[in-house]
Amino acid sequence: MKLRTIDGKEKSCITVIAACIEHIKEKATYRIKHMNKDIEDVDIYWVLTVPAIWSEQARQFMIKAAEKAGIDMDNLSLALEPECAAVYCRNEELIKNKDKMNSSLHSFRPGSKFMVVDLGGGTVDITVSEVLESGKMREISKASGGKWGGETINKKIVDVLNEICGQQMKRLQSEEMSSYLELLSEIESAKRYYDDEDDFIMRLPEFLQKQINVENLTCKSGNNIVISKEKPYLLFSQEMMKYIFSKCISDITNHIVGLLEDATEVSEILLIGGYASSPTVQTAFKKEFAQKLKLIIPQNPEIVVLTGAVICGHSKEPITGRVAKYNYGLGIRASVDPGDRNLLLGNVRNKKIFHLLIEKGRRMDVGKYVEGCKIQVDDSTQLDSIELYITKSDNPEHEININDFTKIGTIKFKLPQLRKPTTFAVSLWYDETEFRVMAEDENTNLHFEGIIQYFE
Ligand SMILES: Nc1ncnc2c1ncn2[C@@H]1O[C@H](COP(=O)(O)OP(=O)(O)OP(=O)(O)O)[C@@H](O)[C@H]1O
Ligand SMILES: [Mg+2]
Repeated sequence: MKLRTIDGKEKSCITVIAACIEHIKEKATYRIKHMNKDIEDVDIYWVLTVPAIWSEQARQFMIKAAEKAGIDMDNLSLALEPECAAVYCRNEELIKNKDKMNSSLHSFRPGSKFMVVDLGGGTVDITVSEVLESGKMREISKASGGKWGGETINKKIVDVLNEICGQQMKRLQSEEMSSYLELLSEIESAKRYYDDEDDFIMRLPEFLQKQINVENLTCKSGNNIVISKEKPYLLFSQEMMKYIFSKCISDITNHIVGLLEDATEVSEILLIGGYASSPTVQTAFKKEFAQKLKLIIPQNPEIVVLTGAVICGHSKEPITGRVAKYNYGLGIRASVDPGDRNLLLGNVRNKKIFHLLIEKGRRMDVGKYVEGCKIQVDDSTQLDSIELYITKSDNPEHEININDFTKIGTIKFKLPQLRKPTTFAVSLWYDETEFRVMAEDENTNLHFEGIIQYFE
């Protein structure tokens, strides 16, 4: 994967992400060592958070990038952002209860089912989980979301500017890059100040100030967009902003309304992420959901994941399971014995068939093996690797094709030379960072384990 800079230079994605992680790591290390001079690099444990809707490959990619950034794998774990958020909130509840404060809240108690809505810059990530008797959390339906984060507001404002100053905006982008970036940063900070009681006011870069024609502007947008007398400020009316926000927010709330129709047992919604700081977003959520459900908006929604990740890092307590987003299975050239459904290994002449191990929607318990399939082998078989595939297809038992199936990696084995034909029971084990396959020789009861390699 390559990324391209605005001026056309290419860099590999992993180099860029590793550089970002390294930068943050250095800043954090500096601050930590400044607070306590006795701390060494090996004392620092890193928790890297990722959205729940990311694929296994994307998670693995982040681990590789962290490794490249110089983080020791023994001191790193990956955590899912909604889980960190829930851990943070449960922790807050425990503290409140201990101090007998606000104990009427009764959130995140065993048995409660809640939805975490993470409103970020790019994406909105939604998960539904339940609190178990043990206090641990378990995801109960697969994560969903979309590109409806806070950046959609900025884009809509740029669209309006493109409409009113067309050619000038194009010139700004192609000839005055620093002014263009200044404009984007003005939009961002004006948005963060905006609450729905006032007009939206932003400063224009000098280049645009000179270009805007006041008569034209009034003619095109009436009182909805006004430029200040000496021109440094552009003002959007409340109605105009209401329109922009409501268009962006309704994509999110409509999706959630749809999810809640199926998840009737959900009693709490936890709203987090930077975009959840917006008073307009909070008002819209209260209007839509507060009467039917308990809506929890923490005081600083943008630091909830971060703080939760720190708590997770200290407790190192994994969640107990999540829900498979795809069908997972093995890609093997084999035929199926119609009697006992065992696989009979074939050769290159056989078609490569998908053999389902975990079906979409099934709960995958972290750290536990899931029963798989049985493979019959004879003493001449060289079984040294198995390919793992995913598919969203509803009819997965199928010959593998590139449109419907994605190979997520290869699991390599070291089996001994077999002396007689046997059957291997293959099962799959999962945690947030890797898949393992275990094969048990039914003749000898010996186990063989392999770890998935995502990038070959
Ligand atoms: N007061 C505010 N009003 C409106 N939007 C805000 C406010 N504060 C922050 N935001 C928006 O929140 C977003 C950033 O949120 P957050 O830090 O949770 O995102 P992220 O985790 O970096 O992004 P993603 O989850 O998409 O990877 C930005 O779009 C920012 O403009
Ligand atoms: Mg985020």
